[in-house]
Amino acid sequence: MAGPLPVKSWKRPIIAPSLLSADPLDIGGSVDLLQGEQDWLHLDVMDGHFVPNLSYGPALIEACRSRWPDFVLDVHLMVDRPEDFVEDFARAGSTVLTVHQEATPHLHRVLHRIRDLGCSPGVTINPGTPVETIKPVLDLVDLVLVMSVNPGFGGQGFIPGSLEKTRLLCCWREAFGHDYLIEIDGGIGPGNSAQAVKGGCDVIVAGSAVFNTPEPSVAVREIRARALEGVICD
Ligand code: DX5
Ligand code: ZN
Repeated sequence: MAGPLPVKSWKRPIIAPSLLSADPLDIGGSVDLLQGEQDWLHLDVMDGHFVPNLSYGPALIEACRSRWPDFVLDVHLMVDRPEDFVEDFARAGSTVLTVHQEATPHLHRVLHRIRDLGCSPGVTINPGTPVETIKPVLDLVDLVLVMSVNPGFGGQGFIPGSLEKTRLLCCWREAFGHDYLIEIDGGIGPGNSAQAVKGGCDVIVAGSAVFNTPEPSVAVREIRARALEGVICD
């Protein structure tokens, strides 16, 4: 089992390539193509109920943990009733375990459970969900993920209104003394990573903009370089 995420020790912006766009027949080879340019790996777990797609289960997280013992494995659970799965995903070696507000009536309980299991708890909301719905649990999490596409598929267009949510989360973090990281997921690439950082995002997930390119390591460098312009301009 991985240890908890030392939230404040990461230099931002944090770039997290999403393996959903990696080569499904050679995920290890896809990660090797990153040449260590990434900060975290983002793994999208889909159950065919909460989202209209299926992906993978704890076995992939376990295989990643075994091959890369020191990597941050940022696991995004797009599943109904995540409370039924967090134990397996924690045991498999997840670093961050993020659950959807919309997927459980027991959000508070499952976030506590994730921390008890030795992982960093994260909470996430779909584009149609107001950010106010997670206000009561912000003191429990290490990470808040704002979906900037409707979850289920890579390669969709970025929904600009998402940055209103990240800005609000940034203000609340300051006002209430929280220390969560703010992550954005969906439709991000070199063309809008600066905008995301200006909007308060600490962690940038990118799938197709990384792996659907001839040189994923160059793509990560480019996303980071442009994101840093967002920091400088702020
Ligand atoms: C979508 C997933 C994303 C996806 C992002 O449901 O949560 O992590 O991989 O893909 P891009 O970056 O291609 O939008
Ligand atoms: Zn994701």
